Amino acid sequence: MVRINSPAELEELRKSILSIRDPNKPCITLCSGSACHACGSKEVAASIEEEIKKQGLSGEVDVRKTGCHGFCERGPIIVIHPEGICYLKIEPKDVPEIISQTIKGKKVIERLLYTDPTTHEKVIHESEIPFYKNQERIVFGSNGSIDPKSIDDYLTLGGYSALASVLSRMTREQALEEIKKSNLRGRGGGGFPTGKKWEESRNAPGEIKYVIVNADEGDPGAYMDRSLLEGNPHSVLEGLTIGAYAIGSHEGYIYVRQEYPLAVENVILAIKQAEEYGFLGRDILGSGFDFTVKVHRGAGAFVSGESSALMAALEGKVGEPRPKYIHTAIRGLWDRPSVLNNVETWANVPLIINKGADWFAQFGEGQSKGTKIFSLVGKINNTGLLEVPMGITLRDIIYKVGGGIPGGKRFKAVQTGGPSGGCLPEQLLDIKVDFDELTKAGSMMGSGGMIVMDEDTCMVDVARYFLDFLSDESCGKCVPCREGIRQMLKILSNISKGKGREGDIELLEELSETTREASLCALGKSAPNPVLSTIRYFRDEYEAHIKEKRCPAYFCKEMVSYAIDPEKCQACMICLRKCPAGAIDGGKNKIHIIDQEKCTRCKTCFEVCPTRFSAVKRVSGGPVPLPIPEERRMIVRESRT
Ligand SMILES: Cc1cc2nc3c(=O)[nH]c(=O)nc-3n(C[C@H](O)[C@H](O)[C@H](O)COP(=O)(O)O)c2cc1C
Repeated sequence: MVRINSPAELEELRKSILSIRDPNKPCITLCSGSACHACGSKEVAASIEEEIKKQGLSGEVDVRKTGCHGFCERGPIIVIHPEGICYLKIEPKDVPEIISQTIKGKKVIERLLYTDPTTHEKVIHESEIPFYKNQERIVFGSNGSIDPKSIDDYLTLGGYSALASVLSRMTREQALEEIKKSNLRGRGGGGFPTGKKWEESRNAPGEIKYVIVNADEGDPGAYMDRSLLEGNPHSVLEGLTIGAYAIGSHEGYIYVRQEYPLAVENVILAIKQAEEYGFLGRDILGSGFDFTVKVHRGAGAFVSGESSALMAALEGKVGEPRPKYIHTAIRGLWDRPSVLNNVETWANVPLIINKGADWFAQFGEGQSKGTKIFSLVGKINNTGLLEVPMGITLRDIIYKVGGGIPGGKRFKAVQTGGPSGGCLPEQLLDIKVDFDELTKAGSMMGSGGMIVMDEDTCMVDVARYFLDFLSDESCGKCVPCREGIRQMLKILSNISKGKGREGDIELLEELSETTREASLCALGKSAPNPVLSTIRYFRDEYEAHIKEKRCPAYFCKEMVSYAIDPEKCQACMICLRKCPAGAIDGGKNKIHIIDQEKCTRCKTCFEVCPTRFSAVKRVSGGPVPLPIPEERRMIVRESRT
């Protein structure tokens, strides 16, 4: 690699890379992000390489293994350029046909296209699939078109031009002003104004300052930061370098959890490549500015994502938070001014510099500008990563992008903001998704986890689940968080086991208040959110559990029983064969009954009983019907239809 010494040389390099790339040459981009990798994209890639050779096309087709395309539900995904034909759920056995029919024959293979579930029409291009059509992918969009292991791919999209213009044309103050003007707010949880944080650090006394990327991302169900770092590591590095210049830092860290091996691998390689071109290191682009970056692998503790805990971990200490009377921007890593931003926040920076604060501010609403990447998981048709303008409604995210709830079930709630976010009910589906509206509703934006729940979800159990996670992850340093969460968890576990008592709701509210007020860091301060939001919006479910010993969603095992309706049972033996506990008695002509002592409430009988019979009944909050007497169990087949 040649060293690039000026913005002009960078432009020359970009031109020379583009000049050897033929835009009309067929190129297959294959999603190789973690989700597609788990669905077999590596095997698909091997088949593509092999088939290209076999069909005599060596050198005539490019294959690019890209980062995550976002539509994880339908992976592995390939897009064939220049036509932009998108095929979903590709298996190695599909590859010979793809090469012969589409690459050679220029024909579209209908069965591999997306089928619109309502119109049943086939959709050829990725951008026309409803999942993508309703997004604004300014940050995440490049993931699907570049190989994250190739810095040249990033350069073809204008990569490092923002850094070049900052270093050659802008003072530190001007760079900072542009970020302030854009009103970019941190994407890692709190929504703190990025420019303000940078300014605090820049103005703080001290020669040595640090910039840090928070790629810890430990929320259950969230994987957007990981995918951005895996799929477009240079965008994060470029943003980080611009931030370093603006605040006067010469040393940066990327704190990434060890469990994200592909992100670790790709960002280490990206640093090496950027150093070779001279985008990192000494005298960057001939500007006289020096900046180096190191990768620190985190051991995977949720609390280590908190700013002061993360900095303690970087110093080699136990990852525990400290009181922040003085912001980490002023006294952070090794007591020096330190700017910590989330992966997505950093990736927004080059875009703002290149296109301007006004361009950025056209996305979003009010005090929430730009877009946000969410990971949409749970009971939703289109599981995946999406990027939408702030201010979009929850309804549009769940129905237009997410494709609604599977199996014709009813939407019940969505948890936004990770484990310490809140659960929002159906009546709030038209709420605008931005920092302030979500907080007002008792939830938060968090870093972008969104877990959708359907009618079969028990909201008491949801609160119990998140408190269980937070109880495990609380570092234990401060009593209100350690004990408060543990006590709330105990009460919630009792309620979901049918041992709830009058006054439990009020006690949960009181404990929530204390934990929120007195905890040291935001883990404890926000831990009550799942409890308070479920009480606020689903109080009737708590009351049913406590007063009637009834779980309205038929989820809490201790409060649910299964029984077979003798009038409907056709003695088909399906449930009897599938019951893992051997709890069902019956025969070919003998009505089945469930032994309540042996039954483990696994729900299998309910699920396998054919809907045309619907003979298995769920009971909660009332007595289980007595089994039919032995002498009436034999079926005379002719008499039944
Ligand atoms: C328990 C806990 C875990 C956190 N985990 C993360 C994380 O994984 N990634 C992240 O960017 N911010 C996380 N945060 C927020 C950080 O403390 C910090 O506010 C953020 O990294 C600042 O970046 P931003 O201004 O770009 O959002 C966490 C906060 C808490 C309290």
